[in-house]
Amino acid sequence: MIEISSSTLAIPETGDVPRHVAIIMDGNGRWATRRMLPRTAGHVRGVQAVRRIVEACGHRGVRYLTLFAFSSENWRRPAEEVSLLMRLFVRTLEKEVDRLEAQGVCLRVVGDLSAFDPHLRGLIEAAERRTAGQSALTLTIAANYGGRWDILQATRALLADRPDLAAHPEALDEAALTPWLAMAYAPEPDLFIRTGGEQRISNFLIWQLAYTELYFTDCWWPDFDAAQLDRAFTWYRGRERRFGRTSDQLRGAV
Ligand code: IPE
Ligand code: IPE
Ligand code: MG
Repeated sequence: MIEISSSTLAIPETGDVPRHVAIIMDGNGRWATRRMLPRTAGHVRGVQAVRRIVEACGHRGVRYLTLFAFSSENWRRPAEEVSLLMRLFVRTLEKEVDRLEAQGVCLRVVGDLSAFDPHLRGLIEAAERRTAGQSALTLTIAANYGGRWDILQATRALLADRPDLAAHPEALDEAALTPWLAMAYAPEPDLFIRTGGEQRISNFLIWQLAYTELYFTDCWWPDFDAAQLDRAFTWYRGRERRFGRTSDQLRGAV
């Protein structure tokens, strides 16, 4: 059983392999445009990269992998692109669940799923149920997810459960709120990777990334492979995770 701790309330255990890797899979559209292909061809290739990285993370002993598939702001894209992404999501869920189960992957989907059509919601529920007994790797897909949505939905759920807090706001603390966040089942990410060259969080896990190491690469997501992942892990091993302390304290010098 992995201990779920908060990086601001206690200093987490860290190791050479990140326990939790969170990825913004970016650059599908530009990968395709460079090849004179429609952007959607990049999304199709992106699914192959997902398959590779799930497998590579499993082999390397990562326990939690979280992939940003569709943000709460991605509805602003052209309708045809949004609908292709939804169809791809459906097709991938239909096709991949057997393989995930065989690989020992427990699938979770986080985000405001109420915006999806009932067929997709049904597939998500079935895939989660089907893989619920697996524990080698927990794969979380963030779909119609936004970090601000998450903090707001957690606050609403907490206040519904504890109406007394409205009269006693001083009793509201981190430990009360975090169990209501969408990824309360996972430790905070150790390593964040964003492909595609941008250096921003784009409303991903804004609460949970408080002490995460942030790695940015120019590699487009469809080109991201096990070798690229290893490069990120090597970089990660070189970081000194201080969580507020000094280097001397980490070395045991003081
Ligand atoms: C990421 O690739 C996939 C999704 C956001 C669904 P993009 O589609 O953002 O690719 P670029 O950034 O336009 O190249
Ligand atoms: C972030 O990528 C969301 C996903 C990868 C799902 P975007 O491509 O949507 O981010 P911005 O708009 O460039 O910040
Ligand atoms: Mg993008």
